Amino acid sequence: MHTPASLLLAARPRTQERLYDFYEEMRTADDFFWDRRLDAWVATSHAVVSRAAGDPRLSSVRYPDIEAVSEELRPLARVLSRQMVYSDAPAHSRLRALISRAFTPRAVAMLRDRISGAVDQIIAQAAPTGRMEIVTDLARPLPLTVICDLLDVPEGDRGALASWSDPIAAAIGSSRLDTDHNCSASQSMARMLAYLRDLLTRHDIPPAPHSLRALLTAKAHTDQDFDELLANCALLLIAGHETTTHFIGNAAVALLRHPHAADQLRRQPDLMPAAVEELLRYDSPVQLMLRRARHDLDLAGRTIAAGQVVLLVCGAANRDPAVFPDPHVLDFQRPGGRHVAFGYGPHFCLGAALARLEGAIVLKALLTRLPGLQLDGTPLQWQRSVNFRGLTHLNVSFTPPSPDHDSVTRACIESAGHSHPLL
Ligand code: HEM
Repeated sequence: MHTPASLLLAARPRTQERLYDFYEEMRTADDFFWDRRLDAWVATSHAVVSRAAGDPRLSSVRYPDIEAVSEELRPLARVLSRQMVYSDAPAHSRLRALISRAFTPRAVAMLRDRISGAVDQIIAQAAPTGRMEIVTDLARPLPLTVICDLLDVPEGDRGALASWSDPIAAAIGSSRLDTDHNCSASQSMARMLAYLRDLLTRHDIPPAPHSLRALLTAKAHTDQDFDELLANCALLLIAGHETTTHFIGNAAVALLRHPHAADQLRRQPDLMPAAVEELLRYDSPVQLMLRRARHDLDLAGRTIAAGQVVLLVCGAANRDPAVFPDPHVLDFQRPGGRHVAFGYGPHFCLGAALARLEGAIVLKALLTRLPGLQLDGTPLQWQRSVNFRGLTHLNVSFTPPSPDHDSVTRACIESAGHSHPLL
């Protein structure tokens, strides 16, 4: 058995182009190995990734010793340590409970009309031109609009939130996992928190009834640790933004490269929920989860020393042939439900229902409202990251509809009465 290549190489543009072959070679060499360059264990099999993600012997705390973090990044590390995704029980359960009520399937279903409205607007703008850059025009603005709607953020402030969220996501998604090179992320986080503090305590614009902001504003006056609340609001903005952007881009490109699968979905819209799950499995926006051993322990036959980092490569686990036969085939009829694109165990993605809904609405719109949709031939460029998988741009072309085509298409869809749980 030869030593697997370092996972660090996954961030290289050439590796990104053949990422899943790279993982396969890695898994074949050793599916759970010590990566000297990253100073971490790397797990690529579905069995180890899913077992370890929920193993209480492994901690999600990102910065166990804040004082050891570089001075520039320390303020950012302090905020991240208050976020549920980087905390363990019992703090984790308390932090998750602060906002989970806003993400129940029922609460999320109520957002459907607003998401459809936002997608309709973007598509209507692009439709007459026959061209679209899906990442910039649709995949980036939509998730931010949805989270800002949830938080009831005034329109005029949304651009600033996006500009703060990007450097933070970049620092977290950097190929240097314990990054010390991005102090603009720290500054952006400070600005975002100051903004959220103001939003949740201002009286001049009352929160919309039943909005997440209404729920949080009520808590702002009773909660002992307002800083925790703010840190977790910031988490929603960051976690729900970059990830969903990548999901939309990755799913769109997968469909464009598999026209038969796209046609199948046009013909059988009831397949949409299964398609969303398969597209999440096939090209997962979040490639990596990080855990740290609380004490010396045995895991899948390896001895992990206290404090050592374990990287759980969900993107590789989702292509593990032991669980997904023919893993590189996009198959909407695959018996599913076991992918780990949203993680596994107590930290399972809080925004999963929302991300699924956004994905389903966008894909339906792309497939039904832009006839002749195809890649425009520009080479694809993947973001340089080990943690996230996503395109920097996705240029497509389509046939601009004749003036009344749009209304006819809509009438056809509506009269066909296609309905399923998501749409
Ligand atoms: C397709 C889009 C998304 C993907 C692939 C994704 C993926 C993930 C993954 C893998 C985790 C687990 C992290 C871990 O265990 O270390 C996670 C957690 C989380 N996600 Fe998502 N996510 C997406 C969208 C969203 C959205 C839209 C929101 C909210 C607006 C959100 C909020 C969260 C939160 C708050 C957590 C932490 C949960 C906890 O620690 O208990 N995510 N997500």
